[in-house]
Amino acid sequence: MLFTHSLKSFNTFGLAQSCKELVAADSKAAIKDICLPIWQRQEPMLVLGGGSNVVFTDDFHGTVVRILSKGIKLSQDESFFYLEVEAGENWHELVEFTLDRNMPGLENLALIPGTVGAAPIQNIGAYGVELCDVCDWVEYLDLESGEFIRLTANECQFAYRESIFKGALRNCAVITAVGIRLAKDWQPKLAYGPLQSFDSLTVTAWDIFERVCQVRREKLPDPMVLGNAGSFFKNPIISAATYLELALRFPSVVGYAQTNGDVKLAAGWLIEQAGLKGFVLGKVAVHDKQALVLVNRGGATGQDICRLALHVIERVEAVFGVTLEAEPRVIGLIGEGHLDD
Ligand code: FAD
Ligand code: EPU
Repeated sequence: MLFTHSLKSFNTFGLAQSCKELVAADSKAAIKDICLPIWQRQEPMLVLGGGSNVVFTDDFHGTVVRILSKGIKLSQDESFFYLEVEAGENWHELVEFTLDRNMPGLENLALIPGTVGAAPIQNIGAYGVELCDVCDWVEYLDLESGEFIRLTANECQFAYRESIFKGALRNCAVITAVGIRLAKDWQPKLAYGPLQSFDSLTVTAWDIFERVCQVRREKLPDPMVLGNAGSFFKNPIISAATYLELALRFPSVVGYAQTNGDVKLAAGWLIEQAGLKGFVLGKVAVHDKQALVLVNRGGATGQDICRLALHVIERVEAVFGVTLEAEPRVIGLIGEGHLDD
């Protein structure tokens, strides 16, 4: 550890890297006051929420800004509840907050770690719902101009694990607040496997919340016990023609048809069928209950994780001809990098 500020408790992989400066921004004004000067001096800066989607491969030679701004404003009209949520609020606590106040709509997204401010970045999704289904707008500090800008959900270019914040605005926008819009005419979303047994006429949002939490606790390792960042790979999206070829060779391949005809493959299935479920490489492993999750068995480094990830990518490519992409952001010496840096 080069610097005195440890990042170990600020990332869910539990990686023991450090950073030169570590500061907390607890309001929108503080985010601006802290981030703008660092950006203008062109010094390395990393904006950090809950650290549940990052892999630190080195000590960070710059300032890590933790987003801790809090606050939730509520309003409503005839058809919707509207929430204006500060970026540093915890996502799961927001889900509980809405359900406690009889505002259903976020229950399928229970127990996703991290902050509200990070939720739009990869358009968090689980159990048949994505952030884009409930997002009204996203406000961010534009580091180029120093202005706060509000984008409509449509302008955020949301897609599966994607948004403008991973594209054109990558690393030059600090999200400060998210607007959520929940329909008063609530319709349960029960399409996902373990939710299909509910009766749509009698199910409550709390029933869904509890089932989602139960399934997640069974499948996903608790980062407090076994360091991880959730799914390490995105589910790859391939053309219908490629899917048909694959299905001829591997009839049990798991794929989900997309609205445009493409097919989203279950990467967990690919990794398991490539023989890697439970595979151990020194201090890291492919989780034995969910092959899409890589875990820190204790004392691993970010480099160890990247090495295992590259091995998984290579094996899956060799067996299926499909290239997996990492979901977490790899953070190196002075900023974002790649698995093979
Ligand atoms: P961080 O890890 O702190 O940051 C992630 C990236 O966003 C970094 O590049 C960071 O610089 C940037 N960033 C963070 N906050 C801001 C901000 N305010 N402005 C600009 N940039 C910012 N994800 C899902 O989609 N679905 C799941 O079901 C799911 N399950 C998970 C289960 C487990 C056990 C774990 C550990 C993770 C899971 N994830 C899931 C991934 C993760 O929870 C989400 O990606 C989450 O949104 C990350 O939030 P965070 O605050 O921890 O972000
Ligand atoms: N599968 C296997 N072996 C495994 C794991 C999965 O064969 O070891 C197959 C199963 O057949 C299952 C299919 O893969 O039918 C899908 O598995 P699961 O329902 O567990 O979902 P997932 O595709 O592994 C995705 C998200 C999760 C999200 C869940 C629930 C991605 C990359 N991951 O996982 O998000 O919670 O669906 O909706 O899209 C995350 O992004 O960090 C994350 C945890």
